[in-house]
Amino acid sequence: MTRKTTASAFVSKSFVAAGLAAAVLASAAPAHAAGGGPEIPRIGWSFDGLTGQFDRAQLQRGFQVYQNVCSACHGLERLSWRNLVQPGGPEFPEEAVKALAKDWPNKIPDGPNDAGEMFERDALLSDRILGPYKNEKAARAAQNGAYPPDLSLIARARNPEYKGSALGHGPHMLKDILTGYQAGGEDYLYALLTGYTDVPSYVREENGHLKLVGAEGAGDKPVEQCASVTPGEDGKPDVCNALADGMNYNAAFPGHQIAMPAILADGAVDYPKDANGVALVPATLDQHARDVAAFLAWAADPHLNQRKATGWQALLFLLVTTVLLFLGKKRIWSRIEH
Ligand code: HEC
Repeated sequence: MTRKTTASAFVSKSFVAAGLAAAVLASAAPAHAAGGGPEIPRIGWSFDGLTGQFDRAQLQRGFQVYQNVCSACHGLERLSWRNLVQPGGPEFPEEAVKALAKDWPNKIPDGPNDAGEMFERDALLSDRILGPYKNEKAARAAQNGAYPPDLSLIARARNPEYKGSALGHGPHMLKDILTGYQAGGEDYLYALLTGYTDVPSYVREENGHLKLVGAEGAGDKPVEQCASVTPGEDGKPDVCNALADGMNYNAAFPGHQIAMPAILADGAVDYPKDANGVALVPATLDQHARDVAAFLAWAADPHLNQRKATGWQALLFLLVTTVLLFLGKKRIWSRIEH
C-alpha cells in the first residue's frame, strides 16, 4: 500500500514539475521592455492564445504595408525573400516574390568580380530583405540623427510594462502564462502606429502642478503644451517637457517624443478588392496598423503556426504515454500485491 502511494505521488510530482517547466518556457520574456511607457491596451489577434494561428491574408496585407510605407526607412534583414513563400507565413507565390526581390530598390552588395571590383546586384530568393541604408551611420545621417531600427525582431524586442498594483502582478503573469498571452509587442506596435495625436495641453494650478486640459477646456487660463510632465520634487512646480524640434508626439512611445513621423494614415496602401471592386477589408489607419503589426509578429516568430500544432501533438502523445504507463504500472504491481 505504501509503495503504491509513493509511486503515484512520484507520478503526480513529475507532472507538476513538467507543468512548471512548460509554464516557465512559455513565458520566456522578450528581450527588454518598452520601459516607462504608458499603458498599452490589448487588442486581440488571430494568433493569440494556445491555439491561435496567423491569418495568411492579414500577413499578405501586412507585408504590403511594410513594402509601401515602412521599407522607405526600415530593413527586415533577418528575413530572406524565400521566407515570404514558406508555409505558415504570407505564402506568396514564388514567382511573384522572385520578381519583387529582383525589383527591390535596395540592391545586394556582392563581389569582387573578375576585375576585382565590388558591385551590387538584384536580390534573389535567398537574399535578405535589405533596408535603404548601408549602415547605422548612414541611417542617422539621413534621419536627423535618429536610427530607424531593423524591424525583423521588433515585435519580440518590445513588451509593454505591467501597470497594475504590485499585488496583482503575480496573478496577472500567471493568467498570461495559462492563456498563452505573448502579444505584448504586437499590441505595442499597433498602439505606436495609431498613437500620433496632438500634443496634450496642460494648465498650471496654484500649487504648481500641471493639470491635463480635459473636455471642460482651460477656461481663460494659459495652456502649456507638454510632451510629458516631470513632477516637481519637494514642493517645486512641475516641469513641462515641450516637444523638441523635429520630434513628433506619440501617446504610446515611452517619453512620447519620437523621431518617426506619423507616416501611416487612412488609405496609405491599396488593399485587395473583390471581383466587383469592393475592398475586402477597409484601407484604414486602424487596419493598416493591425496588419503590419501582425506581419511583424510573424517576421519575429515565423514558426508560430507549426510550433503550436506540434505542441498539441506532443501533449497528446504524452497523454497517451501516461495512460499506457499507468496501466502498465497497475498490471505489474498488482501481481506483487496479491
Ligand atoms: C520616414 C522614415 C520612416 C518610415 C517610413 C517609418 N519609420 Fe519607423 N522609425 C523611423 C525612425 C527615424 C525611428 C526611430 C525613432 C526614434 O528613435 O525616436 C523609427 C522607429 C520605429 C520603431 C521603434 C519604436 C521603438 O519602440 O523604439 C518601430 C516599431 C517602427 N519605427 C515601425 C515602423 C513601421 C511599422 C513603419 C511602417 C508603417 C515605419 N516605422 C515607417 C523612421 C521611419
